[in-house]
This record gives sequence, structure tokens and C-alpha cells, in this order.
Amino acid sequence: MSSIYGEYGPSLDKVMEEMRTILESIDERIFAETGEHIYEHFNMRIKSEESMREKCIKKGLPETPFSALHEIWDAIGIRIVTAFRDDIWAIVEEIRRMDRVRVVKEKDFVHHAKSNGYRSFHMILQLSTDFPDVEGNNPGRYYVELQIRTIAMDSWASLEHKMKYKKHVENQKLLEAELKRCADELAACDVSMQTIRNMIRES
Ligand code: GTP
Ligand code: MG
Repeated sequence: MSSIYGEYGPSLDKVMEEMRTILESIDERIFAETGEHIYEHFNMRIKSEESMREKCIKKGLPETPFSALHEIWDAIGIRIVTAFRDDIWAIVEEIRRMDRVRVVKEKDFVHHAKSNGYRSFHMILQLSTDFPDVEGNNPGRYYVELQIRTIAMDSWASLEHKMKYKKHVENQKLLEAELKRCADELAACDVSMQTIRNMIRES
């Protein structure tokens, strides 16, 4: 079976590398200006063949490059993890300012946490490239899903993600409530740590 990304597979690698360069250059500039890093680290991935096909089926889409690269927006996924809460907004501002990046959609689960306690800022971007895309544009544009969150938000999301595979456990409701409580406590810590940093900066 041929790849669901068709002839565009190699372009996804190139887009990911361009995004890496963009994010690294933002951090280099901010570090030169302030002596502090704007994020702790970031991870990027191309959605596996198997997960992409599963997602197409779930959404009732044909398993084609058009579905994978145009109807679905997270073939390329990037997660940026920050030390402090305010760094999230600083990164969002930097991304919004980028020339070759168009912001297609934003979801603010930081100010509006999901009911389970999940917090993160999500952006769907379109990066302008030098190569053709699945819509027939040349030069073309590629979607990228960006998740930006603090270390605390990230550690919670990783744990919660693991639990998802253990559905139908006993005391489901209690566990969900406990997880939610942890999310809220971590969020309160994020606010306190931000305040501490602000006080250190001011003194
Ligand atoms: P998909 O989940 O990608 O189908 O898209 P969506 O349109 O519902 O997007 P949304 O922005 O809600 O979520 C995108 C991604 O964010 C998910 O694939 C997860 O990686 C992450 N995410 C969203 N909600 C949760 C959550 O409750 N827990 C965890 N651990 N991750 C979440
Ligand atoms: Mg996704």
C-alpha cells in the first residue's frame, strides 16, 4: 500500500525542519535580548501512517493525501513546552508576527480549560513553502498543529493521556475528579511560579 501522504511525504519532513529553524531562531533572538529562553524544549512529529488512516476513517474521509494534508490539519504536530505561563503568550505573539505563517485557528484551553482539566494553547498554522502542496498550489502551503503549554500542563496531559488507554477502570468518576483536581492545583502552581518570577525580575 502506498503512503497516505503520497508524493508529499518528503515535503512534510522539509516543513518540519523549516518550523524547527523558525522556533530556534525565535529563541535565539529572545535569549540575546533578555538572557532567558522563551521555551524549555519542543517536540515535533509527523503523524504515523496508521494513525492518519485511522483518523480519516473516524472522520468518514477517504484515505487520500488530500484528506491527510488538507481536510486534517495535524499531519505535522509540534508541542512547545515553557517554564512559565506568560511564556505561552510571548510565543503566541511571536508566531502571529511571522511572515510566512498564517494562523488558521486558535483554541485557548489555558484561559478556558477543558472540563477534564486539560490546559494548553492550540494553534493551527499554514506555512508558506517553496514546494507544491496537495491543493495544486506551487509554491504551496502546509498545515501545522501547534500546542503550547507549561511543564506543569504538559506533565498533566501526559499522565491523563496514559489513563485514556485504561478506560472502564473501577471508580472512573472518582479518578476523573482527582485528575481534574490535580490539573487545577498545577494551574495554581503555575500562577504562583509566574508571580515569583515577576518578583525576581522586578527586584
Ligand atoms: P483531534 O483531537 O486532533 O482530532 O482534533 P480537535 O479538532 O478535537 O482538536 P483539539 O485542539 O481539541 O485537540 C488536538 C490535540 O490536543 C489532541 O490530538 C491531543 O494531542 C491534545 N488534547 C486535546 N484535548 C486533550 C485532553 O483532554 N487530554 C490530553 N492529554 N490531550 C488533549
Ligand atoms: Mg490531533
